[in-house]
Amino acid sequence: MSDTITYSASEKRFCLRTDSTLYVIDLYDGKYPLQRYYGPAVDTLPDAFHVYRAFSPYPTEYGPGFSFDTILSEYPTFGNGDMRHEAMRVKGPDGSGVTDFVFIGFKIDAGREPIPGLPYARPDADTETLEMHMEDPVTGCVLTLRYVVFPHEDVIARSYSLRNASGGSVVLENGMSLCLDIPRADFDLTYLPGTYGSERFNTKRPLSQGCFLMDSRRGSSSHHMSPFFALSDRGASEESGRAYGFNLVYSGNFRSMVEVDQNQTTRVLTGINPDTFSWKLAPGEVFHAPEAVMTYTDKGLGQVSRNFHRFANRHLARPCGFERRPVVLNTWEGTFFNINEDRLVKYAKEAAALGIDMLVMDDGWFGTRRNDLAGLGDWWECRDLFPDGLGAFVSRVKAQGVRFGIWIEPEMVNPDSDLYRAHPDWCLHVPGRRRSESRNQLVLDMGNPDVLDYLKTTFSKTFDGVGLDYFKWDMNRHLCEVWSSSLPADRQGEAYHRYVLGVYDLADWFRTQYPDAMIEMCSGGGGRYDLGMLPYCSQIWTSDTTDAVHRTKIQSGSLYGYPASMMSCHVSNHYNVVEDEQRMEFRWRVAMGGPLGYELDPTSLSDKVKETIRAQIAEWRNCEQIVLWGDYYRLTDPLAGAVYAYCHALPDAGELYLNFLQLVPEEPKTYVLKLIAADPDAVYKDRYTGLIVTGQQLRDGFAVRSERTDQLAKAWYFVRQ
Ligand code: DGJ
Repeated sequence: MSDTITYSASEKRFCLRTDSTLYVIDLYDGKYPLQRYYGPAVDTLPDAFHVYRAFSPYPTEYGPGFSFDTILSEYPTFGNGDMRHEAMRVKGPDGSGVTDFVFIGFKIDAGREPIPGLPYARPDADTETLEMHMEDPVTGCVLTLRYVVFPHEDVIARSYSLRNASGGSVVLENGMSLCLDIPRADFDLTYLPGTYGSERFNTKRPLSQGCFLMDSRRGSSSHHMSPFFALSDRGASEESGRAYGFNLVYSGNFRSMVEVDQNQTTRVLTGINPDTFSWKLAPGEVFHAPEAVMTYTDKGLGQVSRNFHRFANRHLARPCGFERRPVVLNTWEGTFFNINEDRLVKYAKEAAALGIDMLVMDDGWFGTRRNDLAGLGDWWECRDLFPDGLGAFVSRVKAQGVRFGIWIEPEMVNPDSDLYRAHPDWCLHVPGRRRSESRNQLVLDMGNPDVLDYLKTTFSKTFDGVGLDYFKWDMNRHLCEVWSSSLPADRQGEAYHRYVLGVYDLADWFRTQYPDAMIEMCSGGGGRYDLGMLPYCSQIWTSDTTDAVHRTKIQSGSLYGYPASMMSCHVSNHYNVVEDEQRMEFRWRVAMGGPLGYELDPTSLSDKVKETIRAQIAEWRNCEQIVLWGDYYRLTDPLAGAVYAYCHALPDAGELYLNFLQLVPEEPKTYVLKLIAADPDAVYKDRYTGLIVTGQQLRDGFAVRSERTDQLAKAWYFVRQ
């Protein structure tokens, strides 16, 4: 074993090392894990943080020299003197919720174990895991804190399992996946709030004493708040200054909280939202928490993003399975619900001629689903639309020279559906109360095994042998009146989390049942744009907003925590296809921010536009490698000004792709864009203009002037000579 994770018995100290960081846990009195250090690798640690404060209780045996209220704790539990927000609260038979978990042993292993039923980061040859076991003698619970170290991405993944080793039942009322106490508070918090159509607008605010909560209680991670957030030195720049990044590999209700206490220390907590969660553990049962991830860098928020991008690409996202990411033509904005076999075959023919790889048939193809009033849940082929069956239609499409993908929304049911008429108790609902609709639909109880069986059987009957290459998995409403007919009253607190486990179970089934088909996740645009979905899919629909100006803001925000490879982008009919060359180029360059696709009626395009699209796709082929897998550098913020400038670089700096996207007109001014990824000793040539520049010049600053116009794209692709 390497020295990635070590334990020193004399110091009672665990050290977790990544390529650029060190994380140290000390066992106080051999019993209580304290957060000792998280930062750049150092040889000498500063003294442990400790202050005494009036009104802070202390365990009598230690005296005022030690209080849970003023230490930096590795995993604080409720009620034992730490007055800050806890990471865990377990209610045992005494009903108090107080626990006192004490270290009882540890294990260090190469690799990692899967987390049963949950997505988790795949290990590589250098991944190592530390498990610390703790016990609370009164409740009889055994807590295992898990740290999985990914050295090359500077990421540590954290989770826990809680086993009820007592003879009676206990209730887990709160269990955060990660707690990090940091002995300072002079941070800016960057996080990603939003709404439908305006997801993940990066927002920054200084911390001060008190709590700041970022959460979802909607049943999914939501458009409204992303689980990603970061803390950085006040005044840190994009590429310098100390910064910590956090995220959760989970797709349901989450809570992230940053608390600054009386001592100006900062507590970071993230995990399942305790407001909508409790979990009963009968004797011998185990609860497994989702995994949270954290990274540290002294190279600013830009490096936080790059660490997480690499981590998601290497350890979370499911490879798409094709030799390259397909350029899709999605039918939604072209036809909406007007699915028609002959029309779609024509779409496929036109798509093939444009260089598009895959036709994706969106909503409206199944059962009685001709609009959004009916049909969800009835996942069988519609013979009115496809007289010879779905398989024959798919063969006709493929004969035009494209692959074929299909839209599904497995978690939902319309009251006007055969499924609902047969099983009205299969949706989430509280007996005797109204069943609130949203987009005319109710939510299936994905925690009910009968529902999962029905979905698997029905999808299997409709899809097996049809030759599908791609699924677009949608989710178009949030959860309310959450109650499950498959759970007793004292387990209803589990319904939200069991719902998410059911979604993962079904997603895993799709992955296994159709191993050659790629999956794109979606939730009314970017409503479930989280790391939890990534192990099941290769990309996620970023937003239903395809207006390119607005999209720059959504995409730039999304890239704070999520890689370009997952950020599905379309040039759409609605806003983007115009004869105006400048605007057409702008809209396409924006859509080249992630996997490129189109969402339009290809039969209605002029020859000129078709020629443009052919050229766009050909050029995308030259850029896809660097955009999807290169390192991303933010240069300006489109929320703060007229321009969104950014650069992708291949990791060896052999190629740099610079985009300058001007959103709105402004009095012309010069932007000096410092491309710090450039190799200072190299000479580069721009593939578009032939311009020769040195790497040092690019690092010092490449000057670009804005103009009195809107929707203007300028791009350079520098190749080392
Ligand atoms: C919402 C999605 O975001 C759209 O792309 C489309 O698939 C519709 N749902 C279909 O109902």
